[in-house]
Amino acid sequence: MDDQMPMPADVDLSRASIARVYDYLLGGKEHLDVDRRAADALLNVVPEAAEIAKDNRSFLRRGVEYLVGEAGIRQIVDVGSGLPSAGNVHEVAHAVDPAVRIAYVDNDPVVLAHARALLATDERTTVVTADLRTPDSIFDQLGTHDLLDLDEPVAVLLSGVLHHLSDDDDPSAVVATVRDRLSPGSYLLLSHFLFDDESRAFALERAFLHGGLGSGRFRSWDQLRSYFDGLQLVEPGLVYANDWRPDEHTPVDGPVHTLHAAGIGRKA
Ligand SMILES: C[S@@+](CC[C@H](N)C(=O)[O-])C[C@H]1O[C@@H](n2cnc3c(N)ncnc32)[C@H](O)[C@@H]1O
Repeated sequence: MDDQMPMPADVDLSRASIARVYDYLLGGKEHLDVDRRAADALLNVVPEAAEIAKDNRSFLRRGVEYLVGEAGIRQIVDVGSGLPSAGNVHEVAHAVDPAVRIAYVDNDPVVLAHARALLATDERTTVVTADLRTPDSIFDQLGTHDLLDLDEPVAVLLSGVLHHLSDDDDPSAVVATVRDRLSPGSYLLLSHFLFDDESRAFALERAFLHGGLGSGRFRSWDQLRSYFDGLQLVEPGLVYANDWRPDEHTPVDGPVHTLHAAGIGRKA
């Protein structure tokens, strides 16, 4: 763990955190023994599991480039934003248009402390503490900020976060609320673990749920498709994450190709 980085006093360091495990899999520095043990439980089942995190970051970059470049989006709400890493959403967006405004949202106090430290002087970004399980609370909080105008189109990013909601959290209802709160012309970006490659998905899901993290659901194509109900899917639709508008940096047929899917939908 980098000693220079903020660590809030009320964090339970005996428990693995999704954000720090993800950081470890991405090759970052913000993780503890408990996180590495949880990551190893995943790697024992699928040795290439770290590729899912890397592929997901790659999809996120391509998706944000599309949203800001081709779709002309100027406001982004990144829910479950994670620890700062190479190619942060504001960096990708600002490389296309420096005027884009971004709200980072997460429920992990460590993520929020890092983001606040990184973005303290950037007037085009804000950091919000909120939980995706209560999506109205996200939009209500953003409504009190001057940064975003929620009557104008926004892109909501749910990248690698919705699969950390359990079935009891009712992810379908959560995403339905998000869709309802979007103004016309807005976009929803989603990436999610996929139950397609049955044996590996099943084994990996068990390692996520019982190997120290306690969350990480693999859901079917039909379940993932339903999250876009009422939205127009942007080409090429809901596909394996690496098949979403791959570029020269995207592995064509990597070892975890069938374990996660991604798409972007537009509200008419
Ligand atoms: C795997 S990381 C994804 C980071 C980033 N979105 C990306 O795609 O690279 C998942 C993030 O979602 C956050 N998260 C998990 N459950 C959440 C919830 N219920 N509400 C808000 N954030 C949540 C975690 O704290 C973590 O930072």
